[in-house]
Amino acid sequence: MSTVRFLTGITTSGTPHLGNYVGSIRPAVRASKTPGVESFYFLADYHALIKIDEPERIQRSTLEIAASWLAAGLDPSHVTFYRQSDVPEIPELTWFLTCVTGKGVLNRAHAYKASVDKNTAAGVDPDADVTAGLFMYPVLMGADILMFNAHKVPVGRDQIQHIEMARDMAASFNHRYGEHFVPPQAEIEESVATLPGLDGRKMSKSYDNTIPLFSSREQLKKLIAGIKTDSRAPGEPKDTEGSALFQIYQAFASEEETAKLRQAYADGIAWGDAKTILLERIDQEIAPMRAAYEDYMAHPEKVEALLLAGATKARAIATPFMAQLRSAVGLRRLSAAVQNTAAKVEKVALASFKQYREKDGQFYFKLAAADGTVLLQSKAFASGKDAGQAIAQLQREGAATLNALASALEPLDAAGTSTASAAIDALAAAAAEAAKEKAAKAQA
Ligand code: TRP
Repeated sequence: MSTVRFLTGITTSGTPHLGNYVGSIRPAVRASKTPGVESFYFLADYHALIKIDEPERIQRSTLEIAASWLAAGLDPSHVTFYRQSDVPEIPELTWFLTCVTGKGVLNRAHAYKASVDKNTAAGVDPDADVTAGLFMYPVLMGADILMFNAHKVPVGRDQIQHIEMARDMAASFNHRYGEHFVPPQAEIEESVATLPGLDGRKMSKSYDNTIPLFSSREQLKKLIAGIKTDSRAPGEPKDTEGSALFQIYQAFASEEETAKLRQAYADGIAWGDAKTILLERIDQEIAPMRAAYEDYMAHPEKVEALLLAGATKARAIATPFMAQLRSAVGLRRLSAAVQNTAAKVEKVALASFKQYREKDGQFYFKLAAADGTVLLQSKAFASGKDAGQAIAQLQREGAATLNALASALEPLDAAGTSTASAAIDALAAAAAEAAKEKAAKAQA
């Protein structure tokens, strides 16, 4: 059975919160345990540089995210878990893809367009404060995906356009250089609801309404106490519809537990009691992971070692694949290039000898370029065999033998001599190459 390859990246620009856990970490860890699935998870730290210019924050976030995924049960011996910047083939591939991506396509990328629209609305230069990094974001992401020929890319809806762009990059590269890339597909988890934050809007760092995944129990209690509710008093029936507290609970609870809380809402549970129920339910799931998380945070060298081992695994794929791609685009050893030029000449541009007999009964030959131009004309030979031997000598020994044959050839001027010499030498090289290949084949 062929395996399906999943790959996803996590930008190292923040501290994982409950929304990340429910929407991405938990489903990914579960999916990584499915038989027949090969998973690649990586810390997209090159992407983080686009948004963040605080070195300490990038480093801190890299550790926190790696520790969170590991604590949540990601098994690095079973999946490939690595840090983007440990795989130098990725930025190299980014350049290759840059060269097959239309600038106009990038102009239409949502994130870039949003910045341009905002600037335009503000009446400033459309590209004000827009880095080329933001503009190139989709190409780096395309390289992440195509480097490992991932089939499926689990992402949020906001990333679908990027996956479509990666497909286009794969197609334009394949069109130019042959079939190297598999077109990737976005994998949208329809069943995973987005988690509301403390204020009821989607839980997101940019709204400052998050609950960190690994806050202490005390911290968790405090934050949950701050979840926005309405002002209904204890004993008054409450709405589950639009209740952030209820939705967060649902993301952790079983169906039975959820039904029970729904009943409690109808029965007029006090908000304080509902919050206690939520705290206990979340803590029940998170507490066992918390110890592992704290251990990783206290021992970054453990995380570092795991990431480096992951990079070794990733590069076992990336390095040979990149070598293949380099060769495909023509970044090759020069020794290979010479052979390749000879082979090309043989195919498309080689001149050829033509032997013929004139009305005078005598034998002649000429050397004609691929386009028919006569480069060399012989004088008359008494027999076809003599003419053939002269041709064979030229093919075998190359232009060096032109002098020896001068008396049998129509004279050439200097330019003519040099054109004919080049053509004869190319023929001789091609013949030698063909002989070598034949010998190699005979040996094999
Ligand atoms: N852009 C993605 C996000 O912000 C992160 C990312 C980077 C990614 N490279 C990727 C996701 C490759 C999937 C595949 O969520």
